[in-house]
Amino acid sequence: MNLCHRSFTVTGLVTFMAVSVSTFVTPQHVSRFGSCRGKASELSKKLIEKQQVFWPELSSTNGDDTAIPTSRNQLTSDQALLDTSCCGMTAPLAPSLDHIDTSLLPASSETDNAVYVFPLVVSPKNYTENFCLRGFMRANRDWVDEQILKYGAVLFRGFDIDSAAEVEADVRALEPNLSNEYRGTSPRNTQEGSDFVFSAAEVPSHFPIAQHLEMSFLPAPPRRLFFSALQAPHATPGKKGGETALTDFRKVYRDLPPKLREKLATKKIRYTRKHKEYGFKPEFMTTDITSLKGWSDLFDTHDQTLVEEICRAEDTPMRWEGGKDKKLFVSEYNSEPFQYHPDTKEPVYFNHAQVFHWSTFPAELFHAFRRTKDIRFLLRSISTGLVSFVTYGLLRRRVSLHVSYGDGSPISVREMGQIRKAIHKNMVFNQWKTGDLLLIDNFSTSHGREPTYSKNRKIVVAWSQALAKSNDPVYGGSTA
Ligand SMILES: [Fe+2]
Repeated sequence: MNLCHRSFTVTGLVTFMAVSVSTFVTPQHVSRFGSCRGKASELSKKLIEKQQVFWPELSSTNGDDTAIPTSRNQLTSDQALLDTSCCGMTAPLAPSLDHIDTSLLPASSETDNAVYVFPLVVSPKNYTENFCLRGFMRANRDWVDEQILKYGAVLFRGFDIDSAAEVEADVRALEPNLSNEYRGTSPRNTQEGSDFVFSAAEVPSHFPIAQHLEMSFLPAPPRRLFFSALQAPHATPGKKGGETALTDFRKVYRDLPPKLREKLATKKIRYTRKHKEYGFKPEFMTTDITSLKGWSDLFDTHDQTLVEEICRAEDTPMRWEGGKDKKLFVSEYNSEPFQYHPDTKEPVYFNHAQVFHWSTFPAELFHAFRRTKDIRFLLRSISTGLVSFVTYGLLRRRVSLHVSYGDGSPISVREMGQIRKAIHKNMVFNQWKTGDLLLIDNFSTSHGREPTYSKNRKIVVAWSQALAKSNDPVYGGSTA
């Protein structure tokens, strides 16, 4: 099977270029709590003053450090539910819904029409650096869960999160069971102070990352994602580039041309993942952004037998290829292109085709140029587009992570353009502020990275346990 060769025409190229504790306390937590306690005496006076802002009824609370429990085991069950032990702050009542403001983020579509759809933005009513976010999360878990389900994403802004350890603590207050297993495609590094918080992608920030549901090509992707901006890319408000854009993939399902939706539903999607032992370092003329991760990084081992065992346990079909050495990891399988949402039962566009297709990288660069007017994105779009056209269109080579219809026939550049159009139409652009925390329903809402030449961007991510996809076929023609 060759990749889009037959369907790629000069017209296609032109079009493509143009559009394109007790329950979860671990020794780690205890030691972190200990370090928080260290700050307590230093801050106690100030914190008590701050408490009076949120809890006027607490004006008689004293700042005695002995009142701070040394571990969650010392808390009663009611206290544990309302635990607000944030770096020494103790209060019998956690911040409630009366202490926050909510709004919607203004989305700017390609035509820059302001639309207010999502995410829901939650901010402290009276700004203070000492709002106890983890206390709020724990005490208002049902409400936060409801908002994530309703809006697809909730952005906590103005809470001054500044370390991976803090991200983990705040997220665990909502979602105690995080996962650190990652079979995705981006190179990632763990962050100091946490075993569950990673750099979002160790890929230069001027490389776009197309919209996707995290690990949607796996039988069981993570149920939720948690991003945080430890360093926003721009100090200037409104400056474009570097956003973690979001898209409601329920809307993408509805906005696909009915014929294409039906074709996808009938033929299914086939993924072919090929990983060398080591990934490539991205260069200026990189056209295969899917080759950046090696299998030794993917499975955290150089032992091929162990890789086979892991794949057997995870039910991942695999084989070794690559001449005498047989060190090229290959996994090929078919997958449903759509899923029903596990809670709302709405159909969702649920696959990685737009990420794995070779036309995506130059098309996303062109999209970035249209938004930012940065000529460097246009030049890279043209150059990588031409090289990709020759390499993958004419010479029929394949990108490392390849996608086709389930029968092996190519998804054409035109069809991929239709998918991309439905995605771009529904994108919203979260312009990060340092200290933001973004909670995402990974079964309805995609994320991706808008490229930027700003060097300051530092975004980290954690994710919840996986949830098996339904694999019930979703009929492509059911929604007009
Ligand atoms: Fe991702």
